[in-house]
Amino acid sequence: MKKAGFWLNLALGTALCASAQAATVDGVEVSDRFCLTCHGTDGQGNIGIDAPRLAGMERWYLQRQLEIFRDGLRGTHPDDLPGREMQPMAVILSDDSIQDILNWVETWEYKPAEITLTGGDQTRGQTLYQSCAACHGADGEGNEALKAPALRGQNDFYLVNQIRNFKAGSRGYDSRDQQGTQMRMMAQSIPDDQGIIDIVTYINTLGR
Ligand code: HEC
Ligand code: HEC
Repeated sequence: MKKAGFWLNLALGTALCASAQAATVDGVEVSDRFCLTCHGTDGQGNIGIDAPRLAGMERWYLQRQLEIFRDGLRGTHPDDLPGREMQPMAVILSDDSIQDILNWVETWEYKPAEITLTGGDQTRGQTLYQSCAACHGADGEGNEALKAPALRGQNDFYLVNQIRNFKAGSRGYDSRDQQGTQMRMMAQSIPDDQGIIDIVTYINTLGR
């Protein structure tokens, strides 16, 4: 998507849909198109541009991601193309508008994620997942105290991309991003790319 086109659509969308709206960014009503253009029409994710689901994911985690995108700790690595699409979207957000948006996201219904991944070995994935369970929970349910998000219920294509990014160092690259750098070390312990597919194949069985 070309940037100019996107912002033009955004402006038009805002004008056309001004009444069907919930969130406000710096006093300006935000059209549902603003986030949903990329995150899927009902927030369930969009495989076409590698955008994750937001519907049903934990508020505290989404808040932190919006903050680190905004502050440039995520989505500024030259190799992270999807992250660099998201990062400018967060730059314009104030703390208040983040809270507004999270209130809005909380009203979106969670619909079970479609399985898109093939070629994984669930049994090997289960074995490899044991080292993830300490933080992400035995059932992938997440752990707020450790700031580790739920993995079950998230779109598989997105989980694969993120683990690859952590492993390659295009996420978790900023030393101010403690959680990200911690996760980066964990991703580096996965022996091979097939291992990433296997783990996410196993996560797909954990449901929501
Ligand atoms: C131009 C397309 C685009 C728009 C518009 C957009 N996003 Fe994103 N967003 C993405 C992409 C792509 C990613 C995945 C980034 C990555 O791979 O690191 C993402 C990632 C995220 C994440 C990280 C989720 C996670 O599990 O780590 C959050 C939170 C998020 N977006 C919220 C929003 C919100 C809220 C809005 C509206 C204010 C928004 N996005 C608008 C494309 C977009
Ligand atoms: C020491 C604790 C810890 C362990 C062990 C751990 N993680 Fe994480 N993980 C985290 C934290 C904290 C985050 C959030 C990073 C952030 O805020 O950017 C995270 C984030 C992630 C994400 C990004 C999710 C999203 O929605 O963007 C994925 C995917 C992930 N971990 C997979 C794994 C896998 C697979 C393993 C096992 C190989 C693993 N993690 C082991 C702490 C851990």
